[in-house]
Amino acid sequence: MLCAAAAERNKEPISSVLRDCIEPSRPLKALEISSGSGQHIVHFAQAFKNVTWQPSDVDVQSISSIQAYRNHLKLDNVKSAIHLDASQSWENWSGFEPDSLDIVINLNMIHISPIACTKGLFKGAGVILKPQGLLLTYGV
Ligand SMILES: C[S@@+](CC[C@H](N)C(=O)[O-])C[C@H]1O[C@@H](n2cnc3c(N)ncnc32)[C@H](O)[C@@H]1O
Repeated sequence: MLCAAAAERNKEPISSVLRDCIEPSRPLKALEISSGSGQHIVHFAQAFKNVTWQPSDVDVQSISSIQAYRNHLKLDNVKSAIHLDASQSWENWSGFEPDSLDIVINLNMIHISPIACTKGLFKGAGVILKPQGLLLTYGV
C-alpha cells in the first residue's frame, strides 16, 4: 500500500468538491484514470457508496497498491484495478462501451505526463461518458 503525503492531504478537500457534483442516491459508475497509490479512490468509495468505482493506472506498482488498499478495506463498490494507458485510444481501455459511465475522474496526471495522455483522456472521456456524464480533473 503506497502512501503519498499529498494524496493523504487532498483526498478530503477533493471529496468535498465532489459532493457538489455527484448525486448522492442514484447508482452511478465512475472510472478513475491514473489512480496512483489508490488512496483517493478508496476514500471516495467510502464517501460515495452509491458509486461503483473503477480504478486504473498504467503503472504496475500502482495497480498492486490499489489492489492492496481494496483488499485491506474490503470495499464492495471498488472494482479490481485495471491497466489503462490514457495516451492510447479509448478502444484499448479494457472494453468500455460508449455512453456507459457517469463519471471519469483524473487527478494529478495531466501536468506530469506527455500531452498525448491529456488528449487521450479528453477524447476517451468524450466517448465513454453518458451524455450528461462528468469529466473531473485536478492538478497542481
Ligand atoms: C502524480 S501521480 C498521481 C497519482 C494519483 N492520481 C494522485 O493524485 O495521487 C501521476 C499518475 O499518473 C500515472 N500515469 C502516467 N502516465 C500515464 C498514462 N499514460 N496513463 C495512465 N496513467 C498514467 C502514473 O502512473 C501515476 O500514477
